[in-house]
Amino acid sequence: MSSVRVRVPAKVNLQLSVGPLRDDGYHDLVNVFHAVSIFDEVVARESEAVAVRVEGSFADQVPTDEGNLAIQAAKALAKHAGRTYGVELIIRKAIPVAGGMAGGSADAAGALVACNELWGLGLPFEDLMEIAGDLGSDVPFSLLGGTAIGTGRGEQLSEVPASGPFHWVFAVADGGLSTAKVYAECDRLREATGEEVAWPQVSEGLLDALRLGDAQALGAHLVNDLQPAALMLRQSLARTLETGRELGALGAIVSGSGPTCAFLAADEETARNLAVALEGAGVCRTAVAAHGPVRGAHIV
Ligand code: C5P
Repeated sequence: MSSVRVRVPAKVNLQLSVGPLRDDGYHDLVNVFHAVSIFDEVVARESEAVAVRVEGSFADQVPTDEGNLAIQAAKALAKHAGRTYGVELIIRKAIPVAGGMAGGSADAAGALVACNELWGLGLPFEDLMEIAGDLGSDVPFSLLGGTAIGTGRGEQLSEVPASGPFHWVFAVADGGLSTAKVYAECDRLREATGEEVAWPQVSEGLLDALRLGDAQALGAHLVNDLQPAALMLRQSLARTLETGRELGALGAIVSGSGPTCAFLAADEETARNLAVALEGAGVCRTAVAAHGPVRGAHIV
């Protein structure tokens, strides 16, 4: 085998409930992940050393050194296998960078699946999930895909039965937001207001909406505790969300730590029209229609 190609989806959080700050700097979460049809591609080719090249819409914003999570993933996998391996990773980006859609995590998950195949390791899915959890809180979900509840810092997953498809529009902003900074702003806001931070609980209304495939109900149950912090750091997002609501979205929410905004639409055509209208209103850099749930990282 000289080359392996893997496709990995972006995610949106349908519920992101953030518990108190832990001693290790993370927060306990209830995080309902939903994989959507915006895909990065990771191609792994035989090579002496571990190296990465990035292509596509957001390529110039992605690090190609050790800061690249896909490189870290390849090295962690080689270490797990107890050998030195090389690989050239070519990442074709479609997922917004630092956009709250787990783009970096997707590339790491893609690298794990691609290198496992390229190097002929044959490691089971459970081993990849374990390595993924050490790489970042969202990497296991990028492997799994579908719809799932993440607890702990988001890495402990259980699958959620979801009918679908659900139709979405993602309004991509100019520039990204640092996840760590958004969590820190969330803590700061909570401290400033003296807000009592409850232990996060999964929303039964949200689970019912997913099971029934009820887009109207799902739109009403979307929740993101990081949204006030993201809006504080990027005030223009309030107008983006409001515009989507005025244009008839069933739900409007910041995706994860932002700044991408997610809008739920009744059907595919409505989503396409909403994307055009959001772009026309000048409240985002681009707007992309997509559907979910879709499967996690897989070889194509
Ligand atoms: O796990 P990951 O590297 O993606 O997390 C990035 C940052 O987001 C962490 O350094 C932390 O500041 C914040 N985070 C958090 N609680 C979580 C997940 C992430 O505070 N459950």
